[in-house]
Amino acid sequence: MEITAELTAFRAEMEAVTTSCTFLDHAAVSPLPHRVREAMAHYADCRGVTFGFREEFEEVSTRLRDRSARLIGATPEEIGFVQNTSLGLNIAAQSLPLEPGDNVIFCDMEFPSNVYPWMLLERQRGVEARRIPHDGGGLTLAALERHADDRTRVVTVSSVEFLTGFRTDLEALGAWCRERSIYFVVDGIQSVGAVPLDVRACYVDFLSCGGPKWLMGPIGLGFLYCRQELLERLTPPMAGCVSVVGREDWLDYDLTFLPSAARFELGGSNLVGMVGLLSAVELLLEVGVEAIHARTLHLTDRLIADLERRGYRVASNLDPARRSAIVSFAVPGDPQAAHARLQGAGVAVSLRETYIRVSPHGYNTEDEIARVGQVLGDAG
Ligand SMILES: Cc1ncc(COP(=O)(O)O)c(C=O)c1O
Repeated sequence: MEITAELTAFRAEMEAVTTSCTFLDHAAVSPLPHRVREAMAHYADCRGVTFGFREEFEEVSTRLRDRSARLIGATPEEIGFVQNTSLGLNIAAQSLPLEPGDNVIFCDMEFPSNVYPWMLLERQRGVEARRIPHDGGGLTLAALERHADDRTRVVTVSSVEFLTGFRTDLEALGAWCRERSIYFVVDGIQSVGAVPLDVRACYVDFLSCGGPKWLMGPIGLGFLYCRQELLERLTPPMAGCVSVVGREDWLDYDLTFLPSAARFELGGSNLVGMVGLLSAVELLLEVGVEAIHARTLHLTDRLIADLERRGYRVASNLDPARRSAIVSFAVPGDPQAAHARLQGAGVAVSLRETYIRVSPHGYNTEDEIARVGQVLGDAG
């Protein structure tokens, strides 16, 4: 596969990690690119000296809203900043106008961040959190059609499932939901930045995405997308000093929410995090999400072939349309021991449930991905 100048520059940004280990664990927490660390250090050195907090916030947040929107095909007005994916999903759950007896469908491969907000609604409002069996590692249209009924008001899913790496057919699920006026909520953290996405083409109503995995930003900052038409109809579940129009008219007490998704922001922002995330997202846009996606599929193709040749059982769905940058596989015997062997050899991967999970980003190499099989040897 051709290595473009952008991919070479991407790898150079990761030199601190590539010279110290084989890092194949971006589905957990990514190391920070060089420029991200530099940008945050620079901000820490100069905070408030050049512009003052307010002006800095305006400049950084405007750019970050714009770049985040670009990643997913949204407008900047549809992007609000949140601490993490979990908070964004809770905002979505608490904003939607759901009644007792309505149901929310998700599959049993969802990360708990996208399950508990709906279980809480069940307790609070008698909304049914309907967990359905996964179909080949994730949620499919066929499974949805089997389990939905006329009280289904929400379908919620990860764009890529954290354990199996199942890449959801968001376009098909989203279109199905929109035809039936069912809200479509997406947890984007396991794909945004590494897989192209167009929230309009996929009819997404809410998408929540934290920054520290595929976006390569610091921990504690992400964004929430809310479709413009929906913003106008929903009441946010929380209100703070920056959620409103005329926020510097401090003693007005006029609770008129901002027309944009910034209405979900409450108070002082994690500005150093924003500086870091902005730098990371700009890097990804320079490299190109399409190119990153192609590169990770190429690397995981090689991994899968190598694992199969060595006799391991790959747990991820192998349908090319469902593949992502995450591949999980079973090891005979003690998976903890296999994980420890990889760690001991300087290969960073995750142990999730009983599987070894490997998740390369666009800067990783064929030699690095081959290390997994080299360290573990044949399944025997
Ligand atoms: C699919 C998925 N959603 C949510 C989370 C948690 O994200 P956050 O810490 O941003 O809430 C994870 C973390 O592993 C995840 O894999």
